[in-house]
Amino acid sequence: MGQDAFMESVSGTIGVFQCKIYLLLLGACSGLKVVVPSHTVHGIRGQALYLPVHYGFHTLASDIQIIWLFERPHTMPKYLLGSVNKSVVPDLEYQHKFTMMPPNASLLINPLQFTDEGNYIVKVNVHGNGTLSASQKIQVTVDDPVTKPVVQTQPSSGAIEYVGNVTLTCLVEGGTRLVYQWLKNGRPVHPRSTNSPSPQNNSLHIAPVTREDIGNYSCLVKNPVSEMESDTIMPTIYYGPYGLRVNSDKGLKVGEVFTVDIGEAVLFDCSADSYPPNTYSWIQRTDNTTYVIKHGPRLEVASEKVAQKTADYVCCAYNNVTGRQDETRFTVIITSVGLERLPQKGKSLSPLASITGISLFLIISMCLLLLWKKYQPYKVIKQKLEGRPETDYRKARTFSGHEDALDDFGIYEFVAFPDASGVPRMPSRSVPASDGVSGQDLHNTIYEVIQHIPAQQQDRLE
Ligand SMILES: *[C@@H]1O[C@H](CO)[C@@H](O)[C@H](O)[C@H]1NC(C)=O
Ligand SMILES: *[C@@H]1O[C@H](CO)[C@@H](O)[C@H](O)[C@H]1NC(C)=O
Ligand SMILES: *[C@@H]1O[C@H](CO)[C@@H](O)[C@H](O)[C@H]1NC(C)=O
Ligand SMILES: *[C@@H]1O[C@H](CO)[C@@H](O)[C@H](O)[C@H]1NC(C)=O
Ligand SMILES: *[C@@H]1O[C@H](CO)[C@@H](O)[C@H](O)[C@H]1NC(C)=O
Ligand SMILES: *[C@@H]1O[C@H](CO)[C@@H](O)[C@H](O)[C@H]1NC(C)=O
Ligand SMILES: *[C@@H]1O[C@H](CO)[C@@H](O)[C@H](O)[C@H]1NC(C)=O
Ligand SMILES: *[C@@H]1O[C@H](CO)[C@@H](O)[C@H](O)[C@H]1NC(C)=O
Repeated sequence: MGQDAFMESVSGTIGVFQCKIYLLLLGACSGLKVVVPSHTVHGIRGQALYLPVHYGFHTLASDIQIIWLFERPHTMPKYLLGSVNKSVVPDLEYQHKFTMMPPNASLLINPLQFTDEGNYIVKVNVHGNGTLSASQKIQVTVDDPVTKPVVQTQPSSGAIEYVGNVTLTCLVEGGTRLVYQWLKNGRPVHPRSTNSPSPQNNSLHIAPVTREDIGNYSCLVKNPVSEMESDTIMPTIYYGPYGLRVNSDKGLKVGEVFTVDIGEAVLFDCSADSYPPNTYSWIQRTDNTTYVIKHGPRLEVASEKVAQKTADYVCCAYNNVTGRQDETRFTVIITSVGLERLPQKGKSLSPLASITGISLFLIISMCLLLLWKKYQPYKVIKQKLEGRPETDYRKARTFSGHEDALDDFGIYEFVAFPDASGVPRMPSRSVPASDGVSGQDLHNTIYEVIQHIPAQQQDRLE
């Protein structure tokens, strides 16, 4: 027997040697090749499992022998079945379980049981001009598929942020070799200081919970033959209020100060992030007294009704589960521009517009008058002065023009009053009437002369 084994080993060595030679010289090998697509096959309990095997050789063969053996760790290999040419010789103990159809060397196991787990060895012998032999080993595992897991939350009522803990437990009814994985919003949960998976990962303990832990959790359970994911669950975490802020539809917000035009009704909106939703209350501060003016997230302030020009308010958000609250104060300033505008609302013209209009009218009137005076009065004065008696003139001159404002219109010029020595005056070129008066009285000032102009007008009107 020892000699046989020795001979076999020698012939095998020669065979391999020959094969290598042929490979080098001809590019083909007369040796036997046995190939399995996978050295590990995962089977499902109760179903059929097919172990595919391919083999090939390039020599003339008289006999082809296929043998299947089964071995488990620490046990002797067992003979399952064998074949020569096309005749199969099964082990009678397993004859209903294992099937082979030579020359096809693949093995069918049906039905698969947990006891069928182990290594399957296939050996192919080709007898022709010498004997060629080759074998392969396939590891087979047997599992039950995973059923859909269910996640339970403890406590189911929820937990308060920074106070409570949450434990998620993944429950699976069926399946073997389960591997648990926790997903949060579809992504794997990475262990942190606040969460700790159990050794099997089938439960996730979050202590303490924070707002960041809110999310859609699911449990993914895998085994070699299947994987199933639970429905998502969102643990109830009570938190807040956070980020309290007041906004308004109108008005200008600068920091904590809202500037509002008087007459506008302004709606203030208070919001803060919290679960469950906050209850809001609005407090008005006057001097040192505070009083609640409204409950609810919105406050309407009719700015006409605000007695002061500024008013201080406080919005208070309270979470009745976490027991926490936050408040923000803000000031409403009623703009004074609005105050002036308010009584004028009914009138079509603003005071500014009226003033402008009147001013314009006066300026244009004065300009027209001046123009008229510049070209018209010269002739008239001359004529009148020539044709009128001195008394008339005197009368007109002494006539006080102050009854009518028109009398005062004209160009006024300051002239140094001449003394008796009769130093000649410097009449202005813009006073055309000066010619007509200069000869009469040196003591007449231009002031007086011009006063006559409207008097002439009056004469004409009479
Ligand atoms: C197998 O078949 C070959 C030819 O195909 C034949 O020569 C040989 O005797 C057969 N062996 C057995 C054991 O039937
Ligand atoms: C062996 O038989 C199976 C079906 O039973 C077939 O799918 C497979 O291709 C066959 N293999 C060879 C090498 O003929
Ligand atoms: C059988 O093998 C011998 C040497 O190993 C060789 O000389 C002979 O040609 C081979 N015959 C066939 C038919 O392959
Ligand atoms: C939350 O867990 C921590 C540490 O695991 C523990 O000390 C604390 O008592 C737990 N709180 C509650 C409300 O169960
Ligand atoms: C538990 O999960 C972590 C990552 O989520 C993983 O690294 C670890 O191997 C898992 N443990 C078990 C026993 O599956
Ligand atoms: C959780 O899922 C719900 C519904 O599927 C979705 O409306 C919500 O936005 C999800 N939450 C997160 C944090 O992804
Ligand atoms: C408001 O209270 C403070 C101290 O509480 C006091 O000093 C101050 O005089 C009070 N002001 C008014 C207007 O009552
Ligand atoms: C807490 O406030 C909500 C409204 O935000 C209310 O429905 C609930 O009854 C309150 N709970 C308690 C205990 O006051």
